[in-house]
Parts: sequence; C-alpha cells; structure tokens
Amino acid sequence: MSNPLDKLVGEKKVIAVVCNQWGDTGKGKMVDWLASDWAEFVVRGTGGGNAGHTMRVGDLVHIGHTVPCGILNPDVYNLIGRGVVFDPRGVLEELLELEGKGIDYKKLRIAHNAKLILPQHLVMDRAKEASAGKDKIGTTGRGIGPAYTDHYARIGLTVNDMLNPDIFRQKLKRNLRDKKTLLEKVDREALRTIMQHEHLGRGIFFDWRNIFDEDAITERYVQYGERIREFIIDADALVRNVLCQGRRILLEGAQGHLLSIDYGSYPFVTSSDPSVEGLAKGAGLHEKDVELVLGVVKAPYMTRVGEGPFPTELGGKESARWCASHTKEDEEMEYPDASGDSGNEFEQGVAVRFRGAEYGATTKRPRRTGCLDLPLLRYAMQTNGPDVALTKLQVFDGVPAIKICKSYTYNGPDYFFAGKTLRRGNILDVAPNDVHVMEHCTPNYQVLEGWDEETQDIKSYGDLPKQVRKLVDFIEKETGAKARVLSMGPERSQTIVR
Ligand code: IMP
Repeated sequence: MSNPLDKLVGEKKVIAVVCNQWGDTGKGKMVDWLASDWAEFVVRGTGGGNAGHTMRVGDLVHIGHTVPCGILNPDVYNLIGRGVVFDPRGVLEELLELEGKGIDYKKLRIAHNAKLILPQHLVMDRAKEASAGKDKIGTTGRGIGPAYTDHYARIGLTVNDMLNPDIFRQKLKRNLRDKKTLLEKVDREALRTIMQHEHLGRGIFFDWRNIFDEDAITERYVQYGERIREFIIDADALVRNVLCQGRRILLEGAQGHLLSIDYGSYPFVTSSDPSVEGLAKGAGLHEKDVELVLGVVKAPYMTRVGEGPFPTELGGKESARWCASHTKEDEEMEYPDASGDSGNEFEQGVAVRFRGAEYGATTKRPRRTGCLDLPLLRYAMQTNGPDVALTKLQVFDGVPAIKICKSYTYNGPDYFFAGKTLRRGNILDVAPNDVHVMEHCTPNYQVLEGWDEETQDIKSYGDLPKQVRKLVDFIEKETGAKARVLSMGPERSQTIVR
C-alpha cells in the first residue's frame, strides 16, 4: 500500500512548516510527523525558548522549546539555525530532559552564529514588561526581544563566542554598557528579585554595585559552551551542502505569522519573522528553495497568547483580561461546568480552552480563544501561500453549531489607512496590518452545522462526517486555501492527507 505521505511530498526536497495564526497551532506534531517518515534534516530558523512545541508518540509526551521537533527521530539531523536566539541554559535543560526520556540526540547540531540569549536579556525583558503598564506585550519573559534587539544594534554575542572566553568577555563588557545605564534608575532590590529567578541562576549573576557580575556570566557561559561544543558547527554551510545534494530538508517554524515582527499585529508581536521568508533565511536557505510551504491553521477556532487585538475572541476584553491574570487552576475552580452551549460567550471560550487543552506549553498561561477568522487567514496566505494543514478539528466534536468569521465591518472613527479613509461600516475581507484598525473590526459570521461523531481515529477524508467536509470546503472556497493535511489528534497516526 502506498504511503499517504507520498501524495503530499511527492519528489519535493525542501518543505517548510509555518503557522498562519498566532502560534500554538500544532506545528510540533506536524514536524515530528514529517520527520518520522520523510525528513533527513530538520532546521529551526527563528525564535527561541519562547516556543513550546508539544509532541506525542504513544505514551511519550515531549515539549520542545529550542531543540527542533525532529529530535524524537534519532536518524534525523536536527539543526538549530543561525536565525534562532539561543539560551544555552534552556537548551541544556531540554537535553537533560531528552536524556531522562532515553531519547538519543547525537544528531543535534547548533549554528555557530546563532545569537546568544544572556542573563541581561531576561532581566531587560522582565523589567520592561513590569514597568510597561497597559502597553505591555505579554512576552514569555525568555529574553527574546532584547536578544534580537542587540543583534540589530550590532552588539550581540553568538554561540561561538562561548568557545573563546577572551572574546566573550570583551563582547560582554560592550554589550552590558547600555543595559547598565538603562537599569541604573531601577531599584536595585527589584533587580535583585528579578535575578533570583531560576532561569537567571537564582541570583548568581547579580552584583550590588555593577548590577551584573561579568565574571560570573563569563564563567557560566564558558561552561555552557564546553557542554555543547561537540554540537556546534557551520550550519549555513551544512544546509547549503545538503540542499545541493538533494537531501530532504524540513524547515521548522516557530510562533505564528500574526506574531511576525514584519507581518504581525505590531507592536503585539515577537521579535523575529516566523513567516516562510524569515524561517528560510534563519535556516540558511532562500525562500525560493522551499518547494512546499505548509501553513498550519487551527480550525474551526483560534487562540492567542499575550496582548493585542483578537476580533473573534469569545468574551472579548473580559477574556483577554482573565487570561492575562489567571491560571488553569483558577479557571477549573471558577468555571468547572463551562459549556459550549452556554449563552455566555466568555464561558464558551473557557469551554474551548478546556476541550482543546489551550494552556501555554512554555508559560502555562490560559490561551485566549475565539472563532476561526478568515480575513486573518487570507492575510497570512498572501505570504505563506495556499497550502494549509488544518489542525485540532476534533476539538469541536459534538459542538452543534460553528461560527466562522468571513469578513469584518469597520466600526471605528474615520481613520486614514494605506492611502484611503476607512469609515464606519466599511467591509474588510482581508485583515489589515494595523492594530488601530483591527481594534475596531467587528466580525461577520457564517454559522455552519456541527457534527456529533468522534473524529480522532478516522483515517480517510471520505469517512469524516459530511459536516467536517463542508467546513473544509467552506474554508477552501472562501480563502483559496488548499487543505492538504487534516490533523485529528496529537498522535502521528491521527493525520489525514488529502
Ligand atoms: P516574546 O516572543 O516572548 O517576546 O513574546 C511576544 C509575544 O509573542 C507575546 O504576546 C507572546 O505571548 C507571544 N508568543 C511568543 N511565543 C509564542 C508561542 O510560541 N506561542 C504563542 N504566543 C507566543
């Protein structure tokens, strides 16, 4: 019997998996699935420890953050590319976890020129968020923004610097100069408290007089370098070589298109470009090298973590506020019986969170939930192309009616946007890349019939309930998407190729 994957991959040699939403769509599973049966090399190109990619194979559940999701496949090379911001503490923790689970990571490779996340980046990330008030982004606190900022400010350090202590120390000194000036005004006790965090060595990098103890940072990072020395290579050269040899390369996206620094709902975004363009570049390739871009789309619902507009959010601002300040446990205590049938949209959102286990894999925060938004999908597809993988459809098993946003009505004050004035009542089919507009968009919904059946273990498209197929047709007709893959559950085997 032919492998259903062949239909998807054909003779292709380079495939990219990106997310067409705000992340948390199930890229980890898609990458693991493609790595288990197709890829020879998996390359991560953007982001860092802010990502949380969950993989499930039988009884094994593993959450990857920076280590690529092909890692459960010992024959596959897993590369952390140059575009990644690399926190050696976090990665070593991941490696320990892999060891504990008996997973062999001999074929892990790390780009010598990936950017380093240093203690000052975590401090800056947390200090900025703590003082930002209503302007906070809701970052993951992993130092991502400050590390990328330093790269563009030309004062960053790289993985390779950990192997050269004198260079590391010199660059560190220069890197810390502006941070110390900025943090000079912040209360020392508050900084000391931030630096007690377990991700910051529980205070070992703190110095009362100079804020940062440069010797302690250098010593610790040189030790980290020694521990990963064997994995550090020129990943750009390797990727170009294996491309020329026609080997099978899978590019692993992180975060989502709508969180892109270039394409996302700026400023409520991450600091890298998770689109196929940013991913290819960060992995050492060109976008043109990619023969299939699979844009992952959670359907028929969406989630968002952190601040920023979310037009179809169930429960609107109440949901956003709740998710920013509560935990899963709070929610289970307060809304034990939350139901999708509730007349209250906020509670419907809680019910989706329960059913879809929508709590951050990295931060454990409740994810804001809402209806599938086609204007946003049309927007993401402009960059990532028409091929999509629809995921988590089974979360809506048993839900009688499904609301999907087809377009927006602008309901804000007159606003000059991209060469014309937007007025109240204007209809928008494609999401505009402007948060002021997005904040005033009211979704126009189409209601589709739901299905009663359990769909997790259905193996062929034709066997899915007709309502699921109608939903897929509807998404395709409305957006021009081609739903190439349907993921009906977290297991590799719960995947249908069309
Ligand atoms: P940062 O990437 O930690 O700087 O966070 C910036 C924004 O991106 C915040 O709103 C985060 O919640 C969001 N974000 C970053 N990584 C992820 C992810 O993997 N999934 C979902 N949201 C993310």
